[in-house]
Amino acid sequence: MPTITAHSICKSYHTNHYTVKAVDHVDFTVSGNESVAIVGPSGSGKSTLLNMLGMILPPDEGSLQIDGQDITLLGDRKKSAFRNHTFGYVVQDFALLDDETVYSNIRLPLLYNKVIRRSEHRKRIYHAAEALGISDKLRRKAGKLSGGERQRVAIARSIVCDQPIILADEPTGSLDADNKENVMTILMRLCKEENKMVIIVTHDMDVAKQCDRIVSMRDGKII
Ligand SMILES: Nc1ncnc2c1ncn2[C@@H]1O[C@H](COP(=O)(O)OP(=O)(O)OP(=O)(O)O)[C@@H](O)[C@H]1O
Ligand SMILES: [Mg+2]
Repeated sequence: MPTITAHSICKSYHTNHYTVKAVDHVDFTVSGNESVAIVGPSGSGKSTLLNMLGMILPPDEGSLQIDGQDITLLGDRKKSAFRNHTFGYVVQDFALLDDETVYSNIRLPLLYNKVIRRSEHRKRIYHAAEALGISDKLRRKAGKLSGGERQRVAIARSIVCDQPIILADEPTGSLDADNKENVMTILMRLCKEENKMVIIVTHDMDVAKQCDRIVSMRDGKII
């Protein structure tokens, strides 16, 4: 079972004119197949916290253990391999390659995965696309999709390597009610049936209420 233990982590952003304390001494523990929603106003530090938990941003201070391993001590190469094997990530702006097909976009994390064989890629991509109802879009360029379709591609990409932890930043942000429900059904099924940990940043209380636990942030702190 996966575990994440953050103790007193902090992150500030510095610009020429000001410093923003985006995450301010946060303690956060999740384990097993728990689902957690992180909610809070815009600018309260939700994405920054998620990016630290997912090893995309290093904390300035504090300790972060994932599966008992202090990840701040890992070198760059070990860190990226660990990240790739541990987290499926749905980023807030989807970060799709618009000139590439849906197939290639979903394939991206597989190219960084040293364990899954190339001969398995196709099957996994089809499986992930089917789970999100976008099998008929695999040959389409990502730039030619609607917002909701793009969101589903981003989620398919996050599950294609079958990692134990799914981190999702506003995964239902641009979806209509039906698609929102579909996405939540998929995320909750991954959590309860496939024992994945799911951490979702959301503004949407309907989404948050489906999770086992809701954590609220304000001004960089958990309240
Ligand atoms: N790259 C950056 N440089 C400077 N400041 C930043 C940067 N990224 C975020 N911030 C600031 O840090 C604070 C927290 O940002 P963050 O993106 O974590 O908030 P959020 O809760 O995810 O907001 P939203 O709901 O709008 O996505 C905000 O005040 C934001 O303006
Ligand atoms: Mg955000």
